[in-house]
Amino acid sequence: MEVSPRLRGVKVLVLGSGAREHALVRALAADPDVTELYAAPGNAGIDAQASVRPCDLTDPLAPAALARELGVDLVVFGPEGPLVLGAADHVREAGIATFGPGREAARLEGSKAFAKEIMAAAGVPTAMAHVCDDLDEVEVAFDQFGAPYVVKDDGLAAGKGVVVTDDRVVALDHARECLSKPGGRIVVEDFLDGPEVSLFCLSDGEHVVALQPAQDFKRVFDGDLGPNTGGMGAYSPLPWAPDGLVEDIVARVVQPTVDELARRGTPFVGVVYAGLALTSRGLRVIEFNARFGDPETQVVLARLRTPLAHVLFAAATGSLRDLEDLRWNDAAAVTVVVAAENYPGAPVTGRPIGGLDAAGEVEGAVVLHAGTAYGEHHEVLSTGGRVLSVVGVGADLGDARERAYEALDHLTLEGSHYRSDIALAAELGEVQLP
Ligand code: AMP
Ligand code: GLY
Repeated sequence: MEVSPRLRGVKVLVLGSGAREHALVRALAADPDVTELYAAPGNAGIDAQASVRPCDLTDPLAPAALARELGVDLVVFGPEGPLVLGAADHVREAGIATFGPGREAARLEGSKAFAKEIMAAAGVPTAMAHVCDDLDEVEVAFDQFGAPYVVKDDGLAAGKGVVVTDDRVVALDHARECLSKPGGRIVVEDFLDGPEVSLFCLSDGEHVVALQPAQDFKRVFDGDLGPNTGGMGAYSPLPWAPDGLVEDIVARVVQPTVDELARRGTPFVGVVYAGLALTSRGLRVIEFNARFGDPETQVVLARLRTPLAHVLFAAATGSLRDLEDLRWNDAAAVTVVVAAENYPGAPVTGRPIGGLDAAGEVEGAVVLHAGTAYGEHHEVLSTGGRVLSVVGVGADLGDARERAYEALDHLTLEGSHYRSDIALAAELGEVQLP
């Protein structure tokens, strides 16, 4: 069924500059309905597939101005920053179909305390939590929940605001640091056991369409050691997931959340990213994000067969109910992030990246760019913490892993590091449900 005849010959603008946006751009470039594809600010990899424009994403008015200037039909927001600032409201006010929630609905990600309030109102299962404004409250919460201690910065922190530790001194230090920021507030949570799942659900404000679930690797080192990062790798599908998991998450988590936001008059249009733990006491929400996840998007889109523009346009224009069932390929996808020296601390940037062509020639592998830019002589330089996201697609997770790591072997970036165990436990059938 056609969503809308207007979609023929659609002009799309993708905002952002990570590997998530490179994956979105690749999928949109492959969609025959997309006649013009722009990205802002983009990166060296995105530049090969879309017309890249500058855009200051810290200015909430900039995306709308650029979208108007380019005359696009659809704007797709990648990162959370502009959403939380209300940039999607301005694009929508300009009469352009917008994939991304307005400022109020984006608080689902922008404030963990707000997310807890919505979940309580909607009856969504999540970790017990205390919102704390000072260290005395933190101590009381620690006493109540016991170790391991889970301390979260209330505001946006690029995936790095959370500390989970058995060491009370470390947990208190993190709490102190977050509270010392202007308006600093933290959330202390009950520890959730069990494997984590990321599920992206498209929402047009009312209806919800789930994509395939993925798993992300947050810690920087193999064996889930070291500090949290924005994400070091991901895979999909999840061979260990219980039957009916996606339906269960939609029914118990995402649809009630979307309903609650609509009831408040702030409908959520875009993608609800539910980060969940499958605990011994059932599924629990760890966090919501108001955007596609990075690096999970890289593996989820590698498996989607339905042309993407059509799907995002349906979400942006209130027509998800009329969308046909999404089609997926049977393949497995694994992505491994190449991170700069010292990431997730302040990364070393400006270094040349070698082997991109050879890596891209490995069958079933694609190198997506994150923090990259062209240097003076058209060489590709690193510009951020997460530099590349190498995706392998194969018949099963083992095959996909092999292709990703084979491609990775061709890449050179001084001081860089990556995890060698992405999807390994799942391939070996060692992911345990509690
Ligand atoms: P968040 O930014 O809330 O997704 O947290 C980042 C990571 O910290 C999650 O992916 C989990 O690995 C871990 N985490 C967060 N909250 C909890 C919790 N309540 N119990 C156990 N681990 C958690
Ligand atoms: N993969 C974690 C995130 O996108 O926040």
